Parts: sequence; C-alpha cells; structure tokens
Amino acid sequence: MHKVTLIPGDGVGPEIAGAVRKIFAAAQAPVEWEICLAGQAAIDQAGVPLPDATLNSIRQNGLALKGPLTTQIGKGYRSINVTLRQTFDLYCNLRPVQTITGIASRYQNINLVIFRENTEDLYAGVEHRVGLDAAESIKIITRKASLRIAEAAFQYAVKHGRKKVTAVHKANIMKLSDGLFLECVREVAGRYPQVAYEEVIVDNMCMQLVIRPETYDVLLAPNLYGDIISDLCAGLAGGLGVVPGANIGTECAIFEAVHGTAPDIAGKNIVNPAAMLLSGLMLLEHVGEQAVADRIRSAVGKVIAAGKTVTPDLGGTATTGDMTEAIIREL
Ligand code: NAI
Repeated sequence: MHKVTLIPGDGVGPEIAGAVRKIFAAAQAPVEWEICLAGQAAIDQAGVPLPDATLNSIRQNGLALKGPLTTQIGKGYRSINVTLRQTFDLYCNLRPVQTITGIASRYQNINLVIFRENTEDLYAGVEHRVGLDAAESIKIITRKASLRIAEAAFQYAVKHGRKKVTAVHKANIMKLSDGLFLECVREVAGRYPQVAYEEVIVDNMCMQLVIRPETYDVLLAPNLYGDIISDLCAGLAGGLGVVPGANIGTECAIFEAVHGTAPDIAGKNIVNPAAMLLSGLMLLEHVGEQAVADRIRSAVGKVIAAGKTVTPDLGGTATTGDMTEAIIREL
C-alpha cells in the first residue's frame, strides 16, 4: 500500500479529486490517501495557503496528488505551486503529451514527453523595480540544475525506448545563460550515444511543433520555454482536460493536472476528471504499479474513444459523475 498526500485544491479541484478517489477504489489501486489542504481552502480553514501539516505529509509520504490551486495575479501570496517546487526541490517537470483516440485534434500520432527544468531561470523570482519606470527580472541558469534535468531526460529516453532528445533554447541571443544550458546538455548527450540529439531554437520549435509535432520524441528545455511549449503541446493534443503532469525531485514527487481551478465551471459537475486521473496514473507508474495503471488507462481510453459519456469540453453532455461511473463500468 502506498500512502499518498491528496490535496483536492480549489475550484474544480474537489470534484476531480473525488472522481479519482472513486476510480482508484473501484480499481483497487493500492493507495491510501492522506487528505491535506492548500490554496484558498487552506487560507479559509487554517489562515495560511500552505499549512505545515500539508508540508509534513508530503515530506513523510514522498508522494502527492494535487488539485489546482488559486494563485492571485500580481499580488497576494507567492505562488504555492512555485513554493512547493522550491521547498521539495522538484527539479523535473515531466509532461507526456499524446493524441487520444476520440478527442478532436488536427493532429494524429503525437507522442512526446516534455522535460522542463523546474527550479530556476526567470522563475527564480529574483526581480526588482529600478525607479518608477523600469523593472528587472534576473534569469538564472546553473550547471547543477541543467545537468540534472538533462540526465533525467536522457535516462527516461533510454528506459522508455525513446529515440531522440531535442534541446530547446535561445542561445543565439542569450549566449551566456542558454549557452551554459546547452553546454551541459551536450555533455550529458555525449554519454548516451544510443539516443539521437538535436538542438532547436525556441521560436522555430513552436513553429515546428505546430507543423509536424509527430516528429518529436523527448523535448528538453529550461523553465520558461518549457512552460510555454508545454501548454502549446497540450493544445495540440486536445486541450487542458486531458493533459497530466508531474513534478519530480530526489525525495518527493507531486503529480497534478496541467489545468487550473476552472472557476467558470467550478461546482457545476461538468469538469473533465481525465487530466487529474491521468496524473494519478503517472503516480502509480512512478511507484511501479504499472498493471493497475494500465487497466485504468485502458478504461479511460475506451470511454473517451466511445464519446458517449464525456464532459462538455470533449463535445459531450455527460456530467463529471457520469463520466466517472462510465470509467468504473469499463474497469
Ligand atoms: P484554467 O485551466 O483553470 O481554465 C482555462 C479554461 O479551461 C476554462 O474555461 C476552464 O473551464 C477550462 N478547463 C480547465 N480544466 C478543465 C477541465 N478539466 N475540464 C473542462 N474544462 C476545463 O486556467 P485559468 O482560468 O487561467 O486559471 C484559473 C485559476 O487557476 C487561476 O487562479 C490560476 O492561477 C490557477 N491555476 C492553477 C494551476 C495549478 O494549481 N497547477 C495551473 C494553472 C492555473
């Protein structure tokens, strides 16, 4: 049995977390949940966005499944997501993007995985105002962080039979920072001669992804470019409702859907539970529970492909509860 911290989160979070719990229970997935608060729900109940009890639970279990959290823009508390990544040194943001049968997309056969460095770059939060009319944000790239994300990407490629790693950069302009990133990736690539390696400048990368996404396999990027191409790829594969993600460190891993709290549909029982469910399946795979993960994945795949009991974002009329029950029936 794996003890896992479950943070239902804000907005639609409790609805999708509830769906995942039901489906895991029906599949007899060997997971014991420890429910913890974060975000607005934690502010309302405990007065702080990230209570110590939640941090301790994640630290102890080393595993968490997290719903989306409200982050105020341009004011208020620091992003809890960024705080979690930094507290637990979750240096690797991993996002698999695959076309799913039954989901309307202009593209067929997308099957790529994005490795995004998760702790530094312009997200280090080193910013200041220079007088009234200027502001500066410092872009930080280090050898340590670049080497370990590159190592994670190449190790993954070998383990999963992936053929090619593409490093995404803008070293033609940011010669020092992105230049160091590339220097580190090349060093790691040299140790994996069995994996093809190429480099693509980020603007061209966006165009290539829109034109021929099926030719990419593993994408490796510093934080900002990784963030942007991650959402671009999510859009190519059919939207936010179906894309899972993981933030992985050496001591802990936190799995979460890519989408936010979807305040426009919160409480309406129409949110698509697939993205959080697929994130839960990444968690099961991470701890070696491949068989039960495969069984649930196949059930979700069948429900989406049939298209009869899917939520409105996938063109259906089903409620979250209907779609959850349909997945359980397929199990
Ligand atoms: P969002 O992802 O919450 O919503 C964008 C659009 O997609 C909305 O129309 C929403 O209804 C729809 N959508 C998202 N997930 C869906 C699902 N599973 N099923 C059906 N429709 C879905 O992005 P938005 O509106 O930019 O952000 C809302 C809040 O979420 C903000 O406070 C933001 O900071 C937070 N957020 C939190 C994240 C996290 O905790 N990991 C990630 C992204 C945003």
